[in-house]
Amino acid sequence: MCAKRLDLEGKTCVITGATSGIGQVAAERLAAMGARLLLIARDRARGEDTLRRLRARAPDAAHRVHYADLMLIAEVKRVAAEIAAQERRIDILVNNAGAIFSFHRLTAEGLERTFALNHMAYFVLSHGLREALVAAAPARVVNTASAAHQRAQLHFEDLQFARAYNGVSAYRRSKLCNILFTRELSRRWAHTGVTVNCLHPGFVASNFGRESGGLLPFVLRAAQVFAISSEEGAETIMHLASSPEVADLSGGYFFRCRPTVPAPRAEDDNAARRLWQESAKLAGIE
Ligand SMILES: NC(=O)c1ccc[n+]([C@@H]2O[C@H](COP(=O)([O-])OP(=O)(O)OC[C@H]3O[C@@H](n4cnc5c(N)ncnc54)[C@H](OP(=O)(O)O)[C@@H]3O)[C@@H](O)[C@H]2O)c1
Repeated sequence: MCAKRLDLEGKTCVITGATSGIGQVAAERLAAMGARLLLIARDRARGEDTLRRLRARAPDAAHRVHYADLMLIAEVKRVAAEIAAQERRIDILVNNAGAIFSFHRLTAEGLERTFALNHMAYFVLSHGLREALVAAAPARVVNTASAAHQRAQLHFEDLQFARAYNGVSAYRRSKLCNILFTRELSRRWAHTGVTVNCLHPGFVASNFGRESGGLLPFVLRAAQVFAISSEEGAETIMHLASSPEVADLSGGYFFRCRPTVPAPRAEDDNAARRLWQESAKLAGIE
């Protein structure tokens, strides 16, 4: 069902959230197709373990792992600069790391955790790798969003969810941000040769929600009897990262490898522009 390019020899791919679930499968498949993988992970043991798996797939490829807590803007900026200093060209960026949190907590930088990890990390990392992506054009950015955006509401006056926090609502909102960000980045990078698309992977039996706190881990684990595998969940990432069919498409939202219409709120270009401005202000980026 999902078209893929089978040869990614000579391509360099940066991926987040590749130490588990959907991202781990995607990284292994991209490596099996010949790509050199640069992982961004937060945990050394899981990072090294994933690197070992990749090397088993393609022993000659110079895969690497960089460490950063993607919840912190300063860390995302640092790791982006570290990668940009070593890589002149990046062909594929997969923004995929994400989580859901039962309780409202702020990061050391004062941002609500879901917003910081699920949205700001995508924003800051893409910005930090812009030059290397443009240098590799035609290049691709792939953002893992979710159908959970469907019932989301974005309140610009309360982006950090100080009022009436609810973990599921915060998650939905962050996934709406992924789609709005994809639209705005695609518009801003329209003439660079870098395409930007996002996707819903399906409801996937991964480690998602495992560290959420409260009852969510139990609820999500129980619901996983209805979930698809991480292998199936990774299909649309692979499609967007490699298929010639989508080479010229940008700004789209995909499910099961097909362009799909998201909720009307995710097609609001004024909201997309405003989100960009607010995110740039928070990140101290022009
Ligand atoms: N599972 C689903 O049903 C589903 C549905 C729709 C969308 N999604 C989206 O799919 C993406 C991947 O989720 P998944 O299902 O594969 O979940 P997962 O198995 O929990 O994987 C999440 C990945 O993100 C990484 N991560 C979490 N917090 C991080 C941080 N602070 N800094 C750096 N990395 C961090 C994790 O690293 P560790 O290994 O160190 O924990 C892991 O590699 C997420 O964006 C999620 O929102 C999932």
